[in-house]
Amino acid sequence: LQELVLPPHRPKTTSLPSHHHDNVHRLNPLFSPTLISPTVQSQLPPSYTCRPIQRSDYHSGFLDVLRVLTTVGDVSEAQWNERYDWMSARNDEYFLLCILNGEDRIVGTGTLVVERKFIHNLGIVGHIEDIAVAKDQQGKKLGLRIIQALDFVAEKVGCYKSILDCSEANEGFYVKCGFKRAGLEMAHYY
Ligand code: ACO
Repeated sequence: LQELVLPPHRPKTTSLPSHHHDNVHRLNPLFSPTLISPTVQSQLPPSYTCRPIQRSDYHSGFLDVLRVLTTVGDVSEAQWNERYDWMSARNDEYFLLCILNGEDRIVGTGTLVVERKFIHNLGIVGHIEDIAVAKDQQGKKLGLRIIQALDFVAEKVGCYKSILDCSEANEGFYVKCGFKRAGLEMAHYY
């Protein structure tokens, strides 16, 4: 599992000076591009691409796409970098991918968080989170492709299922993506 999900040539933890880190790793993907489904890639509209997010995506419209989902707040580049690096050090657990249009703007994103359990014989469960497609790009099957891409990652890293929470209004979308209603979400806010 470890070998499969670690991008090549990147130490899991880095003790390099930060300028070195910036120059060498800025364009490095969050996880291995070999985990991006070739089928999904081939089914996107012409000139659209799917890839893992990268540190420079602060400037590619990533947070704006998330704003169609919920409040993002004013996240500075330094804060983005800090959170990105935290996730990057856990790149066998955090899989954030995006879809870009022909002009290299991010038009869709989705996250898979991989949870390792003791139960079910050390079972591994995928949690699908934060699916968003830019308003003017909805209805082109990009949401479906994002879910299919996350399903591909989940299966490759050994998840036996993936689960998600959504509103009633989005149930039909997830049914079209092959999910079925199971259980009920509960929340405690702090
Ligand atoms: N209800 C029922 N069916 C839907 C819905 C919906 N809300 N949205 C899309 N569909 C259908 C489409 O009509 C299409 O059906 P078809 O195959 O028969 O043509 C199919 O689902 C696939 O639709 P896409 O074109 O892939 O959907 P889109 O790219 O517009 O993405 C998404 C859907 C992600 C819900 C988008 O509308 C969006 O970003 N919404 C705002 C943010 C949001 O609510 N995200 C999901 C939160 S839940 C979570 O993150 C786990």
